[in-house]
Amino acid sequence: MPPNRKPTLVSNFLSVVRPNSNNNKLAPPSRYSKTFSASSTALTSTSLLGKVAVVTGSSRSIGAAIAKTLGEHGAHVVVNYVNDSQAADDVVQSIRAQGKGGAIAVKANVGTLEGGQYLLDEAVKAFGRLDILVLNAGVMGSKTISEIDETFYDSHFDTNVKAPLFMAKAAAALIPSPGGRIIFMSSSFTSASAVPANALVYSATKGAIEQISRVLARDLGARGITVNTVSPGAVDTALFREGKSTGVIDFIAKSNPAKRLGEPEDIAPVIAFLASAAAQWVNGQNIRVNGASAV
Ligand SMILES: NC(=O)c1ccc[n+]([C@@H]2O[C@H](COP(=O)([O-])OP(=O)(O)OC[C@H]3O[C@@H](n4cnc5c(N)ncnc54)[C@H](OP(=O)(O)O)[C@@H]3O)[C@@H](O)[C@H]2O)c1
Repeated sequence: MPPNRKPTLVSNFLSVVRPNSNNNKLAPPSRYSKTFSASSTALTSTSLLGKVAVVTGSSRSIGAAIAKTLGEHGAHVVVNYVNDSQAADDVVQSIRAQGKGGAIAVKANVGTLEGGQYLLDEAVKAFGRLDILVLNAGVMGSKTISEIDETFYDSHFDTNVKAPLFMAKAAAALIPSPGGRIIFMSSSFTSASAVPANALVYSATKGAIEQISRVLARDLGARGITVNTVSPGAVDTALFREGKSTGVIDFIAKSNPAKRLGEPEDIAPVIAFLASAAAQWVNGQNIRVNGASAV
């Protein structure tokens, strides 16, 4: 500190919290803080140019919007499907037409460990690397406790929890550290007081995925890989509409302050942000993207 300057509150504070800071100079950054410095413009960028992203279940609905939005930001995208190859090809064409990143479609059942591994292998084969994994594919059956059986339970936990966890494990060995991104998909059901009784198993899977994401962030965060969860409210997709009457759908739409259902395009930009360098300090979070919905 210059001899005639009185210490400010801030410099006093720094000298207390940084015992090495003789003369109130900041201690040199450690190797860790150098690596994750927030000062560079590159790190505030939401561009995904040159990044390779895998989005599970991305031929339709929310996954398709995510794949297209990542492509708009410049990523090469692996579009995954299990049934509808035409829908997947349409998403691929739409990404290629943007003229930024490349895209391929890969048929793989990501409700199985083998399917998930195959998808990751195909991504690396096609683009030579993997930076971003979005674990979007999920199933939502509607049964109360008296209606469920073991098959129903297992199919939900296999697709919504077990397979994404093992895909994250395999991806963690591939994606760059620092800089890699893993994003899970949960649901606002896990916090909604008005959750329906027949969302029992589905909500249990999403609760599990939120905890997996939260804990994994502590582990992979040490390598500069972020792990976050996005939890949409009701989004107008096949999965949402399945088994619901028009009256129920209208009720859910009107219960939102915006008087409408969410659209896949409401969710995708949040994923694109989390995938970007600008979100390097967002880790272990569950971001509810639901327009302040109560259900
Ligand atoms: N919609 C909502 O209201 C809502 C709310 C909260 C959370 N979410 C979550 O958001 C995610 C996406 O939901 P969504 O509504 O977009 O679903 P969706 O309308 O059912 O779309 C499913 C997509 O995933 C693919 N898919 C399904 N099972 C697959 C599998 N085993 N392997 C590979 N691909 C598979 C489908 O491909 P094919 O076309 O080939 O079948 C399709 O592209 C889910 O995790 C869901 O739980 C949705």
